Amino acid sequence: MAFKERVFSGVQPTGNLHLGNYLGAITKFVALQDNYDCIYCVVDMHAITVWQEPGELKHATREVTAAFLACGIDPKKHIVFNQSQVSGHAELAWVFNCVARLGWLNRMTQFKEKAGKDRENASVGLYAYPNLMAADILVYRATHVPVGEDQKQHLELSRDIAQKFNNDYGAAIQAHGYGEGFFPQPEPIIQGPATRVMSLRDGAKKMSKSDPSDYSRINLTDDADAIAQKIRKAKTDPEALPSEEKGLEPRPEADNLVGIYAALANTTKADVLTQFGGAQFSAFKGALVDLAVDKLGPIGGEMQRLVKDPAYIDSVLADGSARAEVIADETMRAVKDIVGFVRR
Ligand code: TYM
Repeated sequence: MAFKERVFSGVQPTGNLHLGNYLGAITKFVALQDNYDCIYCVVDMHAITVWQEPGELKHATREVTAAFLACGIDPKKHIVFNQSQVSGHAELAWVFNCVARLGWLNRMTQFKEKAGKDRENASVGLYAYPNLMAADILVYRATHVPVGEDQKQHLELSRDIAQKFNNDYGAAIQAHGYGEGFFPQPEPIIQGPATRVMSLRDGAKKMSKSDPSDYSRINLTDDADAIAQKIRKAKTDPEALPSEEKGLEPRPEADNLVGIYAALANTTKADVLTQFGGAQFSAFKGALVDLAVDKLGPIGGEMQRLVKDPAYIDSVLADGSARAEVIADETMRAVKDIVGFVRR
């Protein structure tokens, strides 16, 4: 069965959005708007799998929405909303809790990292998180999912869940006239030179919202001075930049900065090295500061402007949620029929 092509992705409203979120995900969201119908979601239900102060969660939800808009997502042509306003996510997640196997979830590396040593004390939601993520995507029967490298394993699980649902309920799916499969196999879109942006302090660690050092990341709301300081202080090695990509292999910090430059300039690492091969880091960092300030400065400014108008942001989310709900409800009616729930 041919599925209508549709893009879905989500970002958690937990703490500061950073350059990794921007280059790994949000720039892709923006680019895909030209060729697909897109649904972009602020996943507040995922956020509460670890404790969030209620007032801060509201603010963070509006801030991520502001970032989507400031980066160039068009909420009229596409859909921008927050997850908790569309009940289909939670409903489908329950069905998927009954489709996914414990063994599948036990393999999820992100749960192991986030739960840490005190696994007994992690929330059940944190454990079942990948099932909700599969529901996010599949409640819209989305076919393409732009994400950073760290979400790859979760996307594979979503595909397994879709396939098992299609198999387990195959007869009912056919009987209801949905052909061979009801859910598509969502394709991850993980491309370009910055699918895994690393910490500016340690080339072996991912850039993340939860790193205690603010110098490890560039936040989308950082001003020009902060961006410049963080890049100038970024860890490097004493060698000049190589002229070929192969020369970056044993040098994670250099590789990271070159990848960031390439992604911001919308080019490849090879092109950046053609330009900067043989240069010292001091010169390269200067050019990177100029580029980063040029690209990120206006976004931070626009975000600050938008968050000052929460009523406007809430109206965007309400409008997006209403339109998302129409699609999700249609899927849920079919899912209920397929599973055998009596419905109105
Ligand atoms: P989250 O909120 O942690 O991150 C949002 C997006 O940013 C990407 N990302 C990175 N990319 C490159 N380098 C980095 N250092 C980096 N850090 C984060 C993430 O890969 C992600 O694309 N589980 C998801 C949210 C989610 C979702 C979904 C995504 C919920 N439901 C359905 C896609 C489809 C998450 O926690 O992303």
